[in-house]
Amino acid sequence: MERSIAYLVIGVLLTYQLKCEVCNLGRSYRKTTTASSRYTYQNSNPLTPDKALDESYYIHSDDCFSSNDEHTNTSAWWEVTFRCISKIFQINLVFREDFVRHAGYYLFITNQTVNASDLIHLDPVYHDEEPSPSQQNTIIFPGGHSGVQVYLYINHSNSNTTDPPIIEPCEVEIYGCVEGDVNESCACANTTIGGQGPDLWQTNVVFPTGSLSLTCDDYYLSIMNMSDFHVDEFLRILEACDGKQHCSFNSSSHIQNKTLMFYCQDKCSNENYTNSHLNRTVVEGLGIEYQPAVSDSFTAFLKSRVYDCKGRHILTSGNLTRQCQEHDQWSGEDPVCNVTCQQPDHDNSTTIHQSRSPIYFEDYSVSYTCREHHRHVHGNLTRVCNGSGDWSGEKPVCRRCKCPCDRVKTQYFITDTEVLRKKINKLNNELKVHRKDLSATVRAKTCAKDERKSSKYLGFITGIGITTAVLVIIVCSDLPLMYRQVRFGPYASRTR
Ligand SMILES: *[C@@H]1O[C@H](CO)[C@@H](O)[C@H](O)[C@H]1NC(C)=O
Ligand SMILES: *[C@@H]1O[C@H](CO)[C@@H](O)[C@H](O)[C@H]1NC(C)=O
Ligand SMILES: *[C@@H]1O[C@H](CO)[C@@H](O)[C@H](O)[C@H]1NC(C)=O
Ligand SMILES: *[C@@H]1O[C@H](CO)[C@@H](O)[C@H](O)[C@H]1NC(C)=O
Ligand SMILES: *[C@@H]1O[C@H](CO)[C@@H](O)[C@H](O)[C@H]1NC(C)=O
Ligand SMILES: *[C@@H]1O[C@H](CO)[C@@H](O)[C@H](O)[C@H]1NC(C)=O
Ligand SMILES: *[C@@H]1O[C@H](CO)[C@@H](O)[C@H](O)[C@H]1NC(C)=O
Ligand SMILES: *[C@@H]1O[C@H](CO)[C@@H](O)[C@H](O)[C@H]1NC(C)=O
Repeated sequence: MERSIAYLVIGVLLTYQLKCEVCNLGRSYRKTTTASSRYTYQNSNPLTPDKALDESYYIHSDDCFSSNDEHTNTSAWWEVTFRCISKIFQINLVFREDFVRHAGYYLFITNQTVNASDLIHLDPVYHDEEPSPSQQNTIIFPGGHSGVQVYLYINHSNSNTTDPPIIEPCEVEIYGCVEGDVNESCACANTTIGGQGPDLWQTNVVFPTGSLSLTCDDYYLSIMNMSDFHVDEFLRILEACDGKQHCSFNSSSHIQNKTLMFYCQDKCSNENYTNSHLNRTVVEGLGIEYQPAVSDSFTAFLKSRVYDCKGRHILTSGNLTRQCQEHDQWSGEDPVCNVTCQQPDHDNSTTIHQSRSPIYFEDYSVSYTCREHHRHVHGNLTRVCNGSGDWSGEKPVCRRCKCPCDRVKTQYFITDTEVLRKKINKLNNELKVHRKDLSATVRAKTCAKDERKSSKYLGFITGIGITTAVLVIIVCSDLPLMYRQVRFGPYASRTR
């Protein structure tokens, strides 16, 4: 305590700033301040209730209020009454450094003056339930809370301790505007606080030890600009507080006298999108990225989440980076990630027909053709991109043909002897018909126009010649069979 003489000079404590002028009501608009009792150090002045409103807080014997330590007390309280109903936005409480006697305290804001004994019938605006409470508490009422009185109250009815209840605030800062008196310089009529706006709140870290707690009434903490904090300290506070309604974290000499800035705002529910995964969360303005804890189910205002499409997927619509905005709104659209196949590979025996787009989505197909002088021997000439981003079938392989591929392709082998026999008979009959037609008419109508196909394109002699040639080709392809037929009759091969 005594080491802190130097700190006294730091006149302005918990720096406070809003977009508009509000006042420290306990200083500029106070009517009275009272308490259940007061403590007096030996040879010193009593610790009067107004010491909690004097803007100094480091030295307990000079700067703080404390109730006495009589064991007969069942409760202890401190109270300030304003001259008129006021709207309260922020209460900063600095308790005695290194002490936790205020564990379980209640904070009341009443809109008419009441006695401490009436508090039991009222609902507190805040109840600290931490077993080891923070030495510094900042409580925000973003919408403003109307009241004419503020009580700090403690009783030991619910705890097993035999210690007397003691309340010892070193400083109570109550920031707000005056509702009932329009002539006041900080009359609410002159202020522009809408209540729901994204007003930036701040608080100074007072002690190097102990802990701090931040609370937003009805809203969620969004930890902001702390560019003068070491990134590890910043992340520590972010992890503890961001997106929460109430948090506490340990102080340190690194963050002492630094200003914590935050919003009390809506939160955005964090969602998982198909085929994508959360990559990181970014604090706007600072560009600080962090991996939110797995349990984080939401992100507070002024943060972005950055998603990535899963492997083999690409973004086809929506946004991979989305900002949490006011009123729980994520900016942009839900990201849609679609699977894609790699550029299909092929060897030099085939060529590929590219699809319209260079990106192959599911169900897109690719077709291959064999290069010139190659024929297909293996794999699939048509392949389709499937739901896992793989190409169906197998890569096609074509081989170079030894003889011209066209002939090989059109070659037609007749292996059925019955079919062969019929074919020969048919050819013979056709030839007979042609012959009759020709011998009957050729001489008589030498100069006449003849429309018939057979005579137009085939003379008799050439007709016979070609037919014979065809027959030879067909027959030669199955000479052994022919031989058997000539020797044993047409049905020999079947009955054998
Ligand atoms: C006082 O508070 C009570 C309960 O919190 C509320 O019903 C009443 O309207 C308030 N009166 C004024 C004048 O704000
Ligand atoms: C102690 O204070 C709390 C808050 O006002 C109250 O709920 C509780 O009943 C009190 N206990 C006694 C014995 O007064
Ligand atoms: C962060 O806060 C400091 C003062 O505390 C201010 O100078 C600076 O502009 C702020 N930066 C951003 C990004 O808000
Ligand atoms: C979302 O993506 C669309 C299309 O790429 C873009 O025009 C828009 O600006 C993005 N919105 C945000 C908030 O990033
Ligand atoms: C992407 O996937 C969605 C379904 O998840 C589908 O409706 C859409 O057609 C796909 N887009 C493309 C380009 O394949
Ligand atoms: C095709 O590739 C094989 C080996 O990959 C190579 O031996 C061959 O010469 C290539 N053919 C052509 C026409 O490039
Ligand atoms: C896609 O094809 C790959 C390889 O053939 C196979 O392993 C996978 O199961 C297929 N996926 C679907 C969704 O059919
Ligand atoms: C690929 O070719 C094989 C053999 O021709 C065939 O059995 C299979 O169905 C084909 N696969 C696809 C996906 O077309």
